[in-house]
Amino acid sequence: MGNKNIYLFGIILLSSFFNVIYGIDSIYKCVIPQGEAYCQSLDGGLVCPNLPACIQFITLNFNVGPTDLISVLYEQNAVFDNHCGYEISIPTSIYISVAGSFPATINCQNANRFILFNTSFTEYSSWLNITVNSLTIINTYNDDAAYPDGGAISVVGYQSAQLTLNQVEMTTSYSSGNGGFVSSIYDITIVDSQFNTGTALKSGGAIYSPGAIVSHNSIYNSCESKASGGAIFGETVNFMTSKATGNYAEYNGGAVSCTSCYMFFSIVQSNNAGLIGGAVYSYSGMVQFGSMQFIQNQAGVCGGALHLINATGSVTTSNFTMNKANYGGALCLNYLPDQGSIDFLDSTFYNNIATEQGGALHISSSLKPNVIYHGIFFNNSYPTLSCDEESSFLCNNNCTISSCDRCGSSPCLEDYDRMLSACFDTVCHSDFEPQGTPHFISQAYASQPQNLYLLDDNNFKHTNHTRPKKSRFPRGGPFL
Ligand SMILES: *[C@@H]1O[C@H](CO)[C@@H](O)[C@H](O)[C@H]1NC(C)=O
Ligand SMILES: *[C@@H]1O[C@H](CO)[C@@H](O)[C@H](O)[C@H]1NC(C)=O
Ligand SMILES: *[C@@H]1O[C@H](CO)[C@@H](O)[C@H](O)[C@H]1NC(C)=O
Ligand SMILES: *[C@@H]1O[C@H](CO)[C@@H](O)[C@H](O)[C@H]1NC(C)=O
Ligand SMILES: *[C@@H]1O[C@H](CO)[C@@H](O)[C@H](O)[C@H]1NC(C)=O
Ligand SMILES: *[C@@H]1O[C@H](CO)[C@@H](O)[C@H](O)[C@H]1NC(C)=O
Ligand SMILES: *[C@@H]1O[C@H](CO)[C@@H](O)[C@H](O)[C@H]1NC(C)=O
Repeated sequence: MGNKNIYLFGIILLSSFFNVIYGIDSIYKCVIPQGEAYCQSLDGGLVCPNLPACIQFITLNFNVGPTDLISVLYEQNAVFDNHCGYEISIPTSIYISVAGSFPATINCQNANRFILFNTSFTEYSSWLNITVNSLTIINTYNDDAAYPDGGAISVVGYQSAQLTLNQVEMTTSYSSGNGGFVSSIYDITIVDSQFNTGTALKSGGAIYSPGAIVSHNSIYNSCESKASGGAIFGETVNFMTSKATGNYAEYNGGAVSCTSCYMFFSIVQSNNAGLIGGAVYSYSGMVQFGSMQFIQNQAGVCGGALHLINATGSVTTSNFTMNKANYGGALCLNYLPDQGSIDFLDSTFYNNIATEQGGALHISSSLKPNVIYHGIFFNNSYPTLSCDEESSFLCNNNCTISSCDRCGSSPCLEDYDRMLSACFDTVCHSDFEPQGTPHFISQAYASQPQNLYLLDDNNFKHTNHTRPKKSRFPRGGPFL
C-alpha cells in the first residue's frame, strides 16, 4: 500500500489516525464512544456510533488493502446494548478492542449474534488477522438460517483469516449450528479468555473450527453441544494451561472433540458425554496428553475421560481420578485394523469406575500392544484393565496395579474373557525378552504365540496363552 496522504472532508487527520509499523502498511483507527450519533474526526482521530459505521467510513474514504489494519476501539468500562447482528465484509485485517485498559461489554440481549465477518471481499496471498481483545460479550443468539454457526462470532469467506480472541469473556450464547460462541472456517486462537454457558445445536458448545484451535490460559465452563465436543470441536486442538469444567456433549467428547489433540498442563473436570469420551474424543489422529488432570468426567458408554479411536500417541505424567463409564472408567481405546497404539508413561489412575469392565482402561481391536511404563493403578473398579481378544497391554518396567478385587493388594492384570484374574508376585516379567527391559504382556492373544506366565487363583502357572481370534468388534460394536 505504501504511505498515503489522508484527507478527510478537507481535514488533515492527526498522526494517531495513521501509523506505519513493520509488516502492516496503515492502521486506520476508529473509536466508538457511547451515544455517538454519526462519524466525525476529532482531535484524537475518527469516532463513529458503531462498528459497521467505522468500517464503512474507512473503506469509503481510504483505499484500504489487505496489508492494512482497521482498529476499532470501544469506550472502555462501558456497556453497549444491541451493538450486535452485524455482517461485516472485511477488506483487510481487523482489530477490535477497547480504548483504554478496562474491558467494554457488548450485550446482545439474546436477540442476535455479535458479528459475522465475511472475508470474501479481499484477496491476499497469506492470512488476514481478525483479533478481538478485551471485550465481555454476553447474551448472544444465532438462529440465522443462512449461516447458523457461531452464536456470538462467525468467520466465513474465501480469504483465509486467523481469528484470535484475547482476554475475551463470553457468557450465555445459543447457536442453531456449530460453535455456541465462536465458529470459523479457518483457525482460531484463544488466549486468557473465558466461556460460560454456551449451547450449540450441533458441535462445539463454545468453539468450532474445521481447522486448528489453540487455547492458552482459558476457561470453558458449562457449555453444551447436542452433538460432539461440549466445549471445543476442532480438527487439531492445542489445549494448554486451560480448564474445562462441567461441559456436556450429547454424543462424544464432553469437553473436547478432535482429530488430533495436544493437551498439556490443563484441568478437565466434571465433563460428561452421552455416549463416549466423557472429557475428550479423538478419531484417527495424533494425540498427546501431558501433565493433565482428568477428574470426575463421565461417559454413558465408554471412556469416562478419554475415548480414542484409531489414534496414535501418548499419555504422560497425567492423572485420571474418579472418572466413570460402563466400559473403561478412565479410557477406552479402539483401533481400526492395524493402526496406532498409545503409550502410557508415568500416569496415575485412581478410583475410576466402570460399571461393566475396565475400571481404568478398556481396549479393543488393538493389534499393536499399548505400553504402560511406570503406571500406577489404584482402587479402580474391577477389573482394572479389560481387553478384547485382539488387544494387549504391555506393562513395561514397573507398572503397579493394586487393589484388585480378587488379588487383594498384590499387583494384577485382568483377563476378562477367560475370567482369569492374573496375580503376580512381581508385575514385570522378563521371561520372553532376555536382553531387554523386563516386561509383561497381560494377555496372549497377539498374532504370534508368546511366552508368558499368568497365575490363576490356584496359583497355577499358565503359559502360551494364544487365543483364537474372534470378530473385530465383539461386544457392542466399534465403540467398545
Ligand atoms: C460472503 O460473501 C460472499 C461474496 O459476496 C458471498 O457469496 C457469501 O454468500 C457470503 N457469505 C455469507 C455466509 O454471508
Ligand atoms: C497477521 O499476524 C501475523 C502475526 O502477528 C503477522 O505476521 C502477519 O503479518 C499478519 N497478517 C497481516 C495480513 O497483517
Ligand atoms: C487411522 O489413522 C491413520 C493415521 O492417523 C489414518 O491414516 C487412517 O486413514 C485412519 N484409518 C481410518 C479407517 O480412518
Ligand atoms: C491426581 O488428582 C487427585 C485428585 O485431584 C489429587 O489428589 C492427586 O494429588 C493428583 N495426583 C497427581 C500425581 O497429580
Ligand atoms: C475407591 O474408589 C471408590 C469409587 O471412586 C471411592 O468411593 C473410595 O473412596 C475409594 N477408596 C479409596 C481408599 O480411595
Ligand atoms: C515402581 O513404582 C513404585 C510406585 O511409583 C515405586 O515405589 C517403586 O520404587 C518403583 N520401582 C522401580 C524398580 O522403579
Ligand atoms: C510357546 O510357544 C512357542 C511357539 O509355539 C514355543 O516355541 C515355546 O516353546 C512355547 N513355550 C512354552 C513354555 O510352552
